[in-house]
Amino acid sequence: MSTRVRLGVNIDHVATIRNARGVSYPDPARAAVVALEAGADGITAHLREDRRHISDADIETLAAMLRDRERPLNLEMAVTSEMLAIALRHRPHAVCLVPERREERTTEGGLDVAAGHNWIAPFVEKLSANGSRVSLFIGADPAQIEAASRTGAAVVELHTGAYCDAARDGHEDEARRVLAALSAAARQAASLGLEVHAGHGIDYGTVSAIAAIPEVAELNIGHFLIGEAIFTGLGPAISEMRRLIDAARVDLQRAAP
Ligand code: PXP
Repeated sequence: MSTRVRLGVNIDHVATIRNARGVSYPDPARAAVVALEAGADGITAHLREDRRHISDADIETLAAMLRDRERPLNLEMAVTSEMLAIALRHRPHAVCLVPERREERTTEGGLDVAAGHNWIAPFVEKLSANGSRVSLFIGADPAQIEAASRTGAAVVELHTGAYCDAARDGHEDEARRVLAALSAAARQAASLGLEVHAGHGIDYGTVSAIAAIPEVAELNIGHFLIGEAIFTGLGPAISEMRRLIDAARVDLQRAAP
């Protein structure tokens, strides 16, 4: 069990607000600096095919800035040759491969690695050979975890959206069921030698249960933090998330036999 869970702050929605007006502010790179100062271990950004939030120029700036600061950039991207060329050029610390549909509001499900092995595995190989740590964003499904391990990826990121939605909507039985599936998936992935990350839809109310899954080494959190920043400021919102993650881990260690 890793004692400290890393926090990757996803800054996509700083760019969403900027793009709503087509101006140059708020600047995602400035948000990245604030995030690192507030306790983020790294910065996550999703360059979508339709460029609805993060732009190519943002990735250029973030990659250079984070390289200078020796902090990790986690680039989320679809499994397309256009994105592969961009990732190979920037060589971010990490690349998280995600499914993408233009009509979706956000990344709705995980990658179907079981069906897409022959398409996905060469991406994993090329990105890894280029020096990026590759992660596959998948649901808590034993077949997908098994398939992910066969691609040679170092990491899986488990999609926590269904748990967070159920917990927020007060569907306790469903939340318990999905959380148990996430825990089992994390155990299975770790037993196959995969590092386990988790993300999507996490807020203050749901982070503790996810951070308490012993195999989870990293959480990637964005939308809630950017929303909360309206009320408290970005730095305090991230510090509070960091505090909740650390507290969940301390509780877990106290409970360990
Ligand atoms: N992890 C992955 C792979 C994602 O696609 C996203 C959303 O871009 C996140 C984490 C963060 O989700 P949220 O913005 O809901 O916190």
